[in-house]
Amino acid sequence: MTAISEHVSLKPYNTFGIEVQARFFTQICHLQQVQELATAKGMFAQLPKLPLGGGSNLLFTQNYNGLVLHNCLKGIVIDKETDQNVWLTAQGGEVWHELVQYCVAQNWGGLENLSLIPGSTGAAPIQNIGAYGVELQDVFTKLQAVHLASGEIHTFLKADCRFGYRNSVFKKEFREQYFICSVTLQLNKNPLFTLQYGEVQRTLEQLGYTVPTVQAVSHAICHIRNSKLPNPAELGNCGSFFKNPEVETAAFERLHRLYQTMPHYSAANGRIKIPAAWLIEQCGWKGRRVGNTGTHKNHALVLVNYGNATGAEIKQLSENIQQSVFEKFGILLEPEVNML
Ligand code: EPU
Repeated sequence: MTAISEHVSLKPYNTFGIEVQARFFTQICHLQQVQELATAKGMFAQLPKLPLGGGSNLLFTQNYNGLVLHNCLKGIVIDKETDQNVWLTAQGGEVWHELVQYCVAQNWGGLENLSLIPGSTGAAPIQNIGAYGVELQDVFTKLQAVHLASGEIHTFLKADCRFGYRNSVFKKEFREQYFICSVTLQLNKNPLFTLQYGEVQRTLEQLGYTVPTVQAVSHAICHIRNSKLPNPAELGNCGSFFKNPEVETAAFERLHRLYQTMPHYSAANGRIKIPAAWLIEQCGWKGRRVGNTGTHKNHALVLVNYGNATGAEIKQLSENIQQSVFEKFGILLEPEVNML
């Protein structure tokens, strides 16, 4: 039987560093443990269950009155290899950046732009992690997950996941209903690199690379991230707190007439994406500190815990930011972070 602890501090398990407790907590090292707990009779049957990876996209606003299933499933196996591609399956408890480093060391392309994203491999599909022009869906082939209501193992192919911008079926319809055990990715031995995003090409040159390689691109991405995003081990944060909003062309044009320096990118369906960081900065929030919380000095989209902030304080800050942006621009920012 799986060992279950009671009243466990979740501070080490969320990158915001929020001090809350889980009523029950267990480490999942074998898939069968999840199945056992999912089908257990008695007290655990009725309890809400929270699959937890690196806790890097999660804001706890209160104690968790259920059972936390900490994903500690480890292992990476090569399923198939051709001259061009490698398919590998990584267990959900693998640290994402360690998986990236493993692939980069083999010279397998596909994950280099996703270097240094905090969190676990099992959590990566939930919000379709993305950075510098690449998203998980670009390399994803399938995942396996335990259905927490039945204990059955289900396979999800790419189309089943309904990936979108920081979105998937696991964030809405199936929220907290599945424990993701493993993720299968298709990597490329002769990759085409995605370098068009902002500073990537410039940073490669700065670092002295004349030709992009898997290692060089990963190095450049790490360099960019380290230069502007705070390390959660040093300053509690969850990366981008809000999604970048998309607006209709007509609404964008109205705004652009008023704010001519507003950065913008074209998005799907003729819509225009506006960086949330810019909107927040224009409202005077960049680098501002409120009690134990604030926005980071180098990046307005990153909310931080300066010490002993509670989740409720960070949530309050996020609502104040939402209100300022709404009042000034008429845009309602949508949190990217999952609040519990
Ligand atoms: N900007 C500001 N003020 C700031 C920071 C940025 O005005 O303080 C403006 C600049 O115009 C800049 C633009 O915002 O060019 C975009 O900034 P950045 O390149 O840093 O990217 P982002 O849109 O803020 C997104 C992702 C990040 C990802 C980067 C790089 C979202 C919500 N965030 O951020 O993902 O690393 O692009 O691809 O899409 C995350 O999801 O947690 C995350 C960090």
